[in-house]
Amino acid sequence: MADIMSGSPDDAVKLEDPENQDEIIEICERAAFFYLRRLRQAISLSEEPSFKVHFQRLLKFTSYITPLLASGNYEGVDAKWTADSLEAIEALVQKYPDVVDLQLVHVVGSNLIDIVHEKVDTLEIMRNNNMLDRLHPHMNILEIGAGTGGTTRSVFEGLRRKYSAYKYTDISSGFFESARQIFKDEADKLTFTKLDIESDPSLQGFQDNSYDLIAGGLV
Ligand SMILES: C[S@@+](CC[C@H](N)C(=O)[O-])C[C@H]1O[C@@H](n2cnc3c(N)ncnc32)[C@H](O)[C@@H]1O
Repeated sequence: MADIMSGSPDDAVKLEDPENQDEIIEICERAAFFYLRRLRQAISLSEEPSFKVHFQRLLKFTSYITPLLASGNYEGVDAKWTADSLEAIEALVQKYPDVVDLQLVHVVGSNLIDIVHEKVDTLEIMRNNNMLDRLHPHMNILEIGAGTGGTTRSVFEGLRRKYSAYKYTDISSGFFESARQIFKDEADKLTFTKLDIESDPSLQGFQDNSYDLIAGGLV
């Protein structure tokens, strides 16, 4: 969740409140850091193997990222944030009740411990107050290893056209013609390009930090 706003300033997600964008991004980062730290503290290492694989990976990432952020050696993160309390985070988040990006970080973050324990469904809480529908109608998306489009179909169903551009990539261009047919309803936003994710994307014509979301399933 940390670094959710990274990307070039021109291509990155535009917030609903551009005037206060820098502060909002900082609060997003700060809240994400707080909730990741709280998750790590709430769950013992011995408990981890009982979780679903993707939650185990999230916990591994949390173990890696939280000391790094706390060290003060991470650009844009103030080591003093390690002293943040839930009350402090809530007060910051409530400064911008209409900024859906921030509210989503807060809603998912504050439920993260229950999410990992599968007591709360992430999508369900993200749909509260139509948050998911209000999110990122201008999202620039890259899919890696899209192949026959199994993952793509789910992404499109979830997005319901609320995105700006979708780059469909695979190591083989042999999938593209039939994908063009399958997803013809998205044709105005869909482009196809070869990408081998085991080689540097910037050497294959892809611009660094230019996507808001990167999807990939079973690659
Ligand atoms: C099991 S399929 C999954 C396809 C699709 N993501 C889905 O969910 O239906 C794996 C796909 O990854 C692609 N692939 C394998 N190695 C790759 C690489 N190095 N870079 C990009 N795509 C790769 C394959 O060509 C194949 O289309």
